[in-house]
Formats: sequence, structure tokens, C-alpha cells
Amino acid sequence: MSNYHIKHLEEYFQVYRKSVRDPEAFWEEIAEEHFVWRKKWDRVLRWDFKKPEVAWFEGARLNITENCLDRHLPVRGDKTAILFEPNDPSGEAQHITYKELHERVCRMANVLKEHGVKKGDRICIYLPMIPELAVAVLACARIGAIHSVVFAGFSSNALATRINDSDCKLVITSDGSYRGAKTLNLKSIVDTALEDCPGVDTVLVARRTGEEVAMKDGRDKWLQPLLDEAYADCVAEIMDAEDPLFILYTSGSTGKPKGMVHSCGGYMVYTAYTFKNIFQYREQDVYWCTADIGWITGHSYIVYGPLANGATTVMFEGVPSYPDYGRFWEVVEKHRVNQFYTAPTAIRALAKESLDYVEKYDLSSLKVLGSVGEPINEEAWHWYNNNIGRNKCPIVDTWWQTETGGIMISPIPFVTPTTPTFATLPFIGIQPALMDEEGNEIKGNQVSGRLCIKFPWPSMARTIWGNHDRYRDTYFSAYADKYFTGDGASRDAVGYYRITGRVDDVIIVSGHNLGTAPIEDSINEHPAVAESAIVGFPHDVKGNALYGFVILKETGESRNRENLHKEINQQITEQIGPIAKLDKIQFVPGLPKTRSGKIMRRILRKIAAGQTDDLGDISTLLNPEVVQEIIDQAEV
Ligand code: PRX
Repeated sequence: MSNYHIKHLEEYFQVYRKSVRDPEAFWEEIAEEHFVWRKKWDRVLRWDFKKPEVAWFEGARLNITENCLDRHLPVRGDKTAILFEPNDPSGEAQHITYKELHERVCRMANVLKEHGVKKGDRICIYLPMIPELAVAVLACARIGAIHSVVFAGFSSNALATRINDSDCKLVITSDGSYRGAKTLNLKSIVDTALEDCPGVDTVLVARRTGEEVAMKDGRDKWLQPLLDEAYADCVAEIMDAEDPLFILYTSGSTGKPKGMVHSCGGYMVYTAYTFKNIFQYREQDVYWCTADIGWITGHSYIVYGPLANGATTVMFEGVPSYPDYGRFWEVVEKHRVNQFYTAPTAIRALAKESLDYVEKYDLSSLKVLGSVGEPINEEAWHWYNNNIGRNKCPIVDTWWQTETGGIMISPIPFVTPTTPTFATLPFIGIQPALMDEEGNEIKGNQVSGRLCIKFPWPSMARTIWGNHDRYRDTYFSAYADKYFTGDGASRDAVGYYRITGRVDDVIIVSGHNLGTAPIEDSINEHPAVAESAIVGFPHDVKGNALYGFVILKETGESRNRENLHKEINQQITEQIGPIAKLDKIQFVPGLPKTRSGKIMRRILRKIAAGQTDDLGDISTLLNPEVVQEIIDQAEV
């Protein structure tokens, strides 16, 4: 078990040094000792960040579900793999054992096969947080189909874009979903999306809410009867380590969403290894990550990482505020949760409510608390530490991205001393670098710059689906021979990293990545709008909220501003989803632009944040006079 489970700080430094000095030997040992391979690799790593090309464990053969399911059957077949907690607290939790999960995955895999799904086919999964979601993900992996999970809060338009981008032929969805006191009819969203998706010939529909839905003859089928009839075993498709495992879309600063492609072998090794260490998971523990499987956090740290370690992973269908703000803590008490992993936005929202919601529950089972998705501010960190962790649970502030597949910078609990708001030290094998604007690496401590990674790690995305040039341009062209994260960071006197936020046009709202371009495109489609620019501004719960500066067409000038505000948000909701709605809209006569016509977002960001005494030099703008007009009417 050498190096697999790090238990003290000297060991961390020692293993880290080893992982950097000889990464190939290091990862080879981890891969060999802790996973089931049908055939070992010919080569541990081949890489070239110029092309860019990265391959880990080339030539190896495996199926990730044999590592997540089959290998556990003899030793922990009756252990709970997935502990499903429904939206309604009076509903019964389901304890799905490894044996049962294996059977359910096999049945689902056989249903997919019967519908002609083969290795390499793309399957879109648009499901709420119900067990079928995890089962569908694993069933795709079982037969080598590439899953593309789309978060079930995205609109039909966003869903259609994602289905078409990766040519999915089959969609798995449900009649509806529960979200707190509300239900959402997912099937009708899928139906609308599919009007624009000629490549989809089958829709499998899970029953959840029982509401009435339209079923299209020949295309739509209820899932349960097919599962009941399917054979309960399914031989795993043997994959190459570098075969794609899944596609997951993330927003870019421009253009359509990027379908990040993750591969089987390296992703498995890295997510399993990080899970084990960063949550210090022990055999009897109950682990809960509150993310949705529609995001990378759910892929890596609800499904693959925990299951590869034989863990019990909680899957929660509900929301933190239903039936009241004590729901998270009620679930922690009920299931004696040991590791709890959530987002700063949830912490901030709960910290606004009465402490009675926390104090009602016994949280003594908690050992480790995690945070992910955006910087955690000092106040939220202390609230989490004092009231949830009762000052005895280390907080792991985990920095990573959809593109990185797994956690990159994070404390190891009980190993790395934590400092509020710092993600602290690079995880084993990760080689960060801070870069200046001229492209030089900034060495030493007490410095800040743009965060890059100098050396490949096993779970990095290998490409953008269908667009390798964009992959190169986005991540490998800003700095020679380095992966550029898009984030800014500082390194303090002891070498701890603190992530300061995006340095590009991606805005993180409630932990969700939103690109400005698609939102602006959506606003600009409104008939009254001539042009728009979106920036983020600080928000005490969401971290950032969206501020839209909108220029109206002459024909729009006479329209009622309140109605326009509503219509614009309605348009965004339809085209992207409610998460991208604007908190503030200011109708402006013009937008500050450079002489080459580029919108100066830096100025707009300052105006939105109310920091107008420090705008820098605006005299070189094409239209400096517009800045004062915008400031005078700003909504701050
Ligand atoms: O800006 C960073 C922020 O979230 C971005 C990645 O978003 P996404 O691909 O949706 O993945 C989120 C879950 C892994 C990053 O570029 N971010 C993520 N975690 C942190 C963070 N910012 C600060 N601190 C973190 N712990």
C-alpha cells in the first residue's frame, strides 16, 4: 500500500518529491498496485504540450466499471455503494449495495446494447439526481459508450447544442424531477430539444415524478420495463486506457460550450487516488458530496473516485433549503456522514439563516469538510469551520476544474495545516507555476500571477470533442509548454496557493462556470437589443452575480424597462438556463471600447463593483465620454 494513503506532512513532502522527480515511476506504482487491468501498459506517459498530446498508460486495457464494481463484489458485495437520499425527507432512503449496483448497471448496459449502442457511441444523459443517473453513467462505461451528462437545469436549447455537438444517438431522461417544493418536467424539455436533434433515434425515460408526459411512438420508451426484462449480467467491454470515457461540457469565454474529453485509465487512477487522500476515506465511512452529477465534481467525486475505492457515496436528490435550511444537517445526522463536500455558495446561503437549523442536529460523525467550485471567502470558511466542523474537522479547499478531471491543489486533511481561503499545496504529482504577463515563470514565494501547470497529470482532459485546435488555443497557447488554467493565484510565504479567480471572461456564479459570450449572444437576440456586455460583480451568496450592460436599438428605446428586464432574463432562461439570469441590467447609450473595437470589460467590472474612483487610464478609449454616463446611471 506504499504511497497510496498519505498520513503525515513529511510523508506528503516525500511522496510529492518522488512524484515530481520521476512521475512515470510514481504513477506506474500507484496504477499497478491499486487497480485491476486486463493488460498492463506499454508506456506510462507520452506527452507533448505543443501539439498538445498526452497519453497515460498507453496500451493498457481495462474497464473502469470492473474497478468500481466487480472487484468489490467478493469483499464488499453487501456494503452500501450508493446511499440515495430523496428530495422529500419523509421518503425512504435507498441503500444500494455493490451487488445491487452491479446488477442494475448490467441491466442498463444490456438495455443500451439492445438499442444498438456500441463502443464509442455518444449517449446523452439528462436526469435528476436519482440512482438511474449513476447507473446510466456506469452502464455507458460498461459497454464503452461515451457518456455526456447534461445538468438537468439546462434549457432545451442548451441541451440541443450539447447533443448535436457530440452527435449523441440516444438520450436517457426522466418524466420529471423534484427540486424542493417544485417539480420540473424534464421530458418536455427533451422533446423541445429534440426538435433540433435529428441524430437522436431513441429516448429512454425513467419514472420519477409520475407526471403525464408525451411519448413519441418509435422513439420514446419507458426505461423500467426494459430494465426488468434485461439480463442481470453484462460482460464489460475492454477499453484502451486512452479511449474516451466521457464528454462533459464546460463554458468557454467565447463560442459554444467545450466538450471536454476524459479518458479511461488516467482518469480512474487520479480520481481514485485523490479521493482516498483528500477525504482520508476509511472503509466504514459514509461520504457525501452535495454536487450534481451533471458537473465534474459529481462525475469524479460522487461516482468514479468513491466507487473505485469501494466507498459508500451519498446521492442527494434535494436542495439545501427544503423543507427548511436544516436539510443538509438533517441528512448528515441521519446517515452519520463522515466526509461532507459542498460549494461555498451553499455555505454562504446557509450561513445567512439561523444557527438553530444547525444546532438541532448531531453533527459529531463529521471528520472532514470540503469546499469546491469557487474561492471560499474568509467569513464562510469560519462559519463552516466553527458551526459545522466544530473546529475539529479540517476544511479541504479543493481547487480544480472540469478540464483537470480531479483535484489539483488542496490540503490533505490531518496532514496539511489549513489556512482560511488557501487551497494550500499542490496535490501529489501536480506541478503548478505562476506566470507573469510576459510569459515568464515567477519563482519564489509571496508572489502572484496566472496559474499554469507545467507537467501532465493522469486525469487531464485530452481534447475538446471535435475541436483539437480549440483545445490547443485555449489551454496551451498562452504560455509555451504549459497548461493555462484561466485562473489567477498567489503563493504566500510558506508556498501555499490561494486562487484569486478567473482572469478571462468566464464568470463563476454560485459555483457554476458561465461564459460571457453565450449569454451576450442570447441577450442580443432580443429584438429590442443592439449590443450587450456581461460582467460579474461580487454577491454575498452567489460569490459573483451577473451585471448586464445593454444598448437598446432605437426601436427598443420606447419600451418599458422593467418588462425588457424580464424578457431578457426569460430569453436567457430559455436559451441557457435559469443559472445564467442577470441580477442587474443597466440600459446604456454605449459600451466603452478600445480603438480596435474591443469592449473594455475591465472598466465595466469596476463600475459594476462600485469601484469607480480607480478606473485607470480611459483616455485611449474610442469613446471615453460614455464611461461617465454609465457611472452616473449605474445600479450600485
Ligand atoms: O476558477 C476556478 C473555480 O472554478 C473553475 C472551474 O470550474 P469548473 O470547471 O466548473 O469546475 C468546478 C469544480 C471543480 C476554476 O477555474 N474554482 C474551482 N475550485 C475552486 C475554484 N476557485 C477557487 N477555489 C477553489 N477551491
